[in-house]
Amino acid sequence: MPALTLSRTPALPVQWSSLLACLLAFAVTGCAQRVEVAQAPAAEILANVVPMPTHLVRTGGELTLGASVAVTVEGEAPHARRALDTLLAGLGVASGKGQGVQLRLQRVDDPSLGEEGYRLRIDDAIVMEAATDIGLFHAVQTLRQLLPAQPKPGMQLPHLEIEDVPAYGWRGVSLDVARSFLPLDYLYRHVDRMALFKLNRLHLHLTDDQGWRIEIKRYPRLTEVGGASAVAGGRSGYYTQAQLKALVAYAQAHGVTIVPEIDMPGHVQAALASYNALACDDVKNLAPYSGTKVGFSVLCLDKPEVVDPFVRDVLTEVLEIFPSHEIHIGGDEIRHPRYAEFVEMTAALVEGMGRRPIVWEEGSVANTRPTMMVQLWNDGYDIAPAVAKGHALILSPCSFFYVDHGNYAGQPQTYDWCRKEGVPLARIHGFDPTVFKTAAGVEAALWSELVHTDAAADNRLWPRLAAVAEVGWNPSTRGDYLHFSGRLSALRPHLDAMGIAYHREPDLYWTQPWN
Ligand code: ACM
Repeated sequence: MPALTLSRTPALPVQWSSLLACLLAFAVTGCAQRVEVAQAPAAEILANVVPMPTHLVRTGGELTLGASVAVTVEGEAPHARRALDTLLAGLGVASGKGQGVQLRLQRVDDPSLGEEGYRLRIDDAIVMEAATDIGLFHAVQTLRQLLPAQPKPGMQLPHLEIEDVPAYGWRGVSLDVARSFLPLDYLYRHVDRMALFKLNRLHLHLTDDQGWRIEIKRYPRLTEVGGASAVAGGRSGYYTQAQLKALVAYAQAHGVTIVPEIDMPGHVQAALASYNALACDDVKNLAPYSGTKVGFSVLCLDKPEVVDPFVRDVLTEVLEIFPSHEIHIGGDEIRHPRYAEFVEMTAALVEGMGRRPIVWEEGSVANTRPTMMVQLWNDGYDIAPAVAKGHALILSPCSFFYVDHGNYAGQPQTYDWCRKEGVPLARIHGFDPTVFKTAAGVEAALWSELVHTDAAADNRLWPRLAAVAEVGWNPSTRGDYLHFSGRLSALRPHLDAMGIAYHREPDLYWTQPWN
């Protein structure tokens, strides 16, 4: 199948013509400030899909959906089928074996599509093919973006052919639910939103100084004490094991793996406040913590007889909840003579339990097996030795991926320690993961010292997560921000339909009401 057509055509796609109209009509008001954006993107926009499919051709013509669609499924595809039924029901289209446009979901034995790739053909019928249920699920998400967000008469789809395979298997977002808790229902909604953009890893930062958010049955005080604290102004709370197991299953059915993080040996004040024996005897302050400092708390590494069984017990319960092959053990922002030894021991423990450890970049100094994953977070960290050793990298350099930083410079209630101009949408889209030889993918991080409500989380995450998704799925688009912003701009009704309190990004013309 040919690659995306790169030719420029005289006819501008709809949203660009309307932007030009906007400029003409309001030359001296709001739109005029954005004159520099109102040029055509370098490549023609053939369909408003984010992330951009790796191959897409328009084959000419349109398919009109009627009141019903005749669905056939070949092979096992329960997740894709459920997503399709939800999509069609939401648009008032009946699905079944009867009349109407034929829609086929088909599992095919085609290794070139990998775990997540798919083909989507729309002509007189709609045909989706993938090697896996999740590949078909992603095809349904593409269809979801091609269809309107709300039911309307005479819904049309462009005739097209897509073959779409992600560049990276790790396209994630990390939520810090430890400093300020996010309610369970927010996490469910968040999974739905990730799925629309084919994001596939939800990293939960479950423990930190300000709170412990995961029930551990052998250590009930972790949630009795540690679950009751939060950063000043933030929310406290915790998730039971049963709640997390249900969330994990829901996420799996939406193509999302939940990756738990138990941050050790630092960032543990909530654990120390719950079980004082985990601290060294000379540690004075064992009270819950609600400030924003880092690097002051540490498990007493001189008491392995206390700390090691705790680590083993906690990880044992964590692994019973989370089937994720990758398990994050933290390792950031702590200096201690026995630090490397602790990381080595904990990484080996996780491997001994049949999983793959992840550490923040600092942990790469430990003598671990190269199979351990390393998460890069400081732009300036010398990651070359870890790459040379063969560690796969999760790329979260803060000046591109720390979305607790502003959508724009000076945004209230955001950090700017990593980049004083903030982390705008365009900057994320411009990130080039391909220069990192061992990149597993990319991940945005939302730390919650300053993010205390669902609405604030929405504002920091969206629309920027759409850029994270595109960088991880198809980084070849990074040279054409206008192409990306044009496609994403048109998806605003989809974000509205999901009730997202997104940042009204001027680059997307979202400062104005829709229509
Ligand atoms: C981090 O931001 N301490 C990983």
